[in-house]
Amino acid sequence: MKKILVTGATGQIGSELTLVLRDQYGAENVIAAAYNRRSSTELPESGPFYGIDVRDTDSIEQIVADHRCDTIFHLAALLSAVAEDRPQEAWDINMNGLINVLEASRKHRCSVFFPSSIGAFGPGTPANDTPQDTMQRPTTIYGITKVSGELLCDYYYRRFGVDTRGLRYPGLISSKVLPGGGSTDYAVEIFYAALTARHYDCFLSAETQLDMMYMPDAIDAAIRLMNADNNTLRHRNAFNVTAMSFTPAKLAAEIQKHIPDFTIAYAIDPVRQAIASSWPRHMDDSAARAEWGWQPRFDLAAMVRDMLEKIAVKIQNG
Ligand code: SER
Repeated sequence: MKKILVTGATGQIGSELTLVLRDQYGAENVIAAAYNRRSSTELPESGPFYGIDVRDTDSIEQIVADHRCDTIFHLAALLSAVAEDRPQEAWDINMNGLINVLEASRKHRCSVFFPSSIGAFGPGTPANDTPQDTMQRPTTIYGITKVSGELLCDYYYRRFGVDTRGLRYPGLISSKVLPGGGSTDYAVEIFYAALTARHYDCFLSAETQLDMMYMPDAIDAAIRLMNADNNTLRHRNAFNVTAMSFTPAKLAAEIQKHIPDFTIAYAIDPVRQAIASSWPRHMDDSAARAEWGWQPRFDLAAMVRDMLEKIAVKIQNG
């Protein structure tokens, strides 16, 4: 990786990944692109930045050509709950955005990182120790775009030799930017509520168990996968990766170790509950461990400690 384009750069993953890449590869070598150009001052100030709509084929290709990009981290997408609300738009952004990136990559010989998700699985998938290779029949439009994206990336690799690689991310927990409309967002919101109101009304049930990961591990995984030796990869799109698996009740209990008067209640949102209930409880990520050395650093206790510290500072600074 020498010249990198990040789409969706102001989103939950992009706003942290872009800065880490700028640190590692030089600010001028990491081009940030986002639909909402005003949602960050840090990214335009720290390196090249473009306001683009990923559905616009020409603007993606222009940036790739102008900057001679060799790698694209394509993060722009609608998340599960918001996609369920606007399914036609979700298909348009998630699929046409991806094919534009793949076409630009085919013409300009770029490698592509595509984030898939636990959402690429469905109710018929084994929910415990979900295998790397298993049945994928998602019931959400988000999941349908993710499994289609996995297949399209595999196709571009086989048919055109585009070096596509991807991860099936679990719910991602981050201290910098809030997730935008996913079904696992409770695991971020809960920290702000715990530190301000000492109470959180959770939109998933107490026993909804899902895979999760702290953002520093999510970023490390993406960079490590893109730097992995091509010869060691048997899979490509996309690898199961997880760092921890918990329920809202278990997360609340861990927060209570730091904030004893914190309370949680449950105000279940039927849409997000139905989405989350169709996803795996715990994925088997042994293929990622074996093929490119995936190894998370943060477990539940370490993640909670770090989140509480960082969010407390954020709240203090307004
Ligand atoms: N966190 C995502 C969502 O809830 C899952 O990929 O949509």
